[in-house]
Amino acid sequence: MSEPLHFPAGFLWGAATSAHQVEGGNTHNDWWRFEQRPGVIVGGRGSGDACQHYRRFNDDFALAAADGHNAHRLSLEWSRLEPVKGQHDPGAVAHYHEVLASLHRHGLTPVVTLHHFTNPLWLADAGGWESRSAIDHFESFVRFCAREFGGEVDWWCTVNEPEVYAFRSYSEGVWPPAVRDDSRALAVMANLLEAHGRAYHVLHSEDRIDADGDGHAARVGFAKHRVQLEPLRAWNPLDHLQAAIEDRVFNLAVESAPITGTIDLSIPGARAVKRTPGDLKGTLDWYGLNYYTRWRVQSLAPVPHVVPPGTPVNDLGWEVWPAGLEQALLAAGRYGRPVLITENGVADAHDSIRPRALVGFVEAMHRAIAQGVPVLGYLHWSLLDNFEWSEGYHGRFGLYGVDFDAPERTRTRRTSAELFARIARSNALTDAARSLV
Ligand code: BGC
Repeated sequence: MSEPLHFPAGFLWGAATSAHQVEGGNTHNDWWRFEQRPGVIVGGRGSGDACQHYRRFNDDFALAAADGHNAHRLSLEWSRLEPVKGQHDPGAVAHYHEVLASLHRHGLTPVVTLHHFTNPLWLADAGGWESRSAIDHFESFVRFCAREFGGEVDWWCTVNEPEVYAFRSYSEGVWPPAVRDDSRALAVMANLLEAHGRAYHVLHSEDRIDADGDGHAARVGFAKHRVQLEPLRAWNPLDHLQAAIEDRVFNLAVESAPITGTIDLSIPGARAVKRTPGDLKGTLDWYGLNYYTRWRVQSLAPVPHVVPPGTPVNDLGWEVWPAGLEQALLAAGRYGRPVLITENGVADAHDSIRPRALVGFVEAMHRAIAQGVPVLGYLHWSLLDNFEWSEGYHGRFGLYGVDFDAPERTRTRRTSAELFARIARSNALTDAARSLV
């Protein structure tokens, strides 16, 4: 018997998704086009119908609600809402109203992301996020969403992981538009951060409706992928230096930008970006934390991040380190804003390590709260197995498994879904939940 670990009243428990990864049929964005190229997706299969969530959302939300979730993170697909520049699609608008109504009906507070990696083709073809005009286009899109959906949404997440998007798409070149140039990656990251600032003000000025009657209208944050970085060899000063450089550009510079108002990005050998847009300072009501893993950094080596032998890893080879969530929360909490865990999870097709890891994550979160970090909630990545970008259908993150070979995309409830339900329903980690590990 162990004492239950209780969480604060009103704590948000739920799962997170993004449109392109679950909906299926997102033919008007840059990812869809990229997926058609041979060799870019593990297993060779593009997003296609994905989880068919575009038409099955109601059933999926019923699963979440039955499991005691009280919140759900999703993204609005820009390329559906504005398939042609300046022209909004009434069918897509009606669809997302139905989605939001279904969430409310199921008692799930929507946490809505406005940019989760995909871009309408027209935006991509006009230079994508390298062009400063993307900031203006995004601002118009956000204004449209705030006016259209503000009565149904209080929790807005402007951009998802500007640092991951920029590095994967413009430095590693494994995501569209497949560029490999650190200078261009920094320019893109800076534009996304600036776009966040603009979106913040638009959401506050256009969305004054308190959708769930809790005394708050728009509450605006962004989602930051916080990797914990450590030197591989404690005795090696160059490993320390390299880890510090990466921590700065990947974590510190990004998370501090909406607080201080200054964008200050640099990597050795790349064109640095430093600017202070007039409207960026103080644009974070909450810090959205995405936490998955730690990188142990090795300097002067062809492979910069190493997983030492014997370390537990997920199906994608990432270290599974639940205690790191406590560190990530303590780091995120330094900015004086409440923290919402907008993603955390494990790629584990057989659900063999996820249950234990989930308990570890929840314990880590409890320790961080006990040390004073104001944590608002925990959104697990993900409700369903889904399209894991360039990993295709190889990374299985769902509380529910999805059979992508079955025409009806059958959902299968994993032990982790039950474990999570026991935690969410009691707003506590109890022996009843632990007994499933
Ligand atoms: C992204 C998700 C992704 C998850 C697992 C995050 O970087 O926001 O879209 O599926 O990590 O890789």
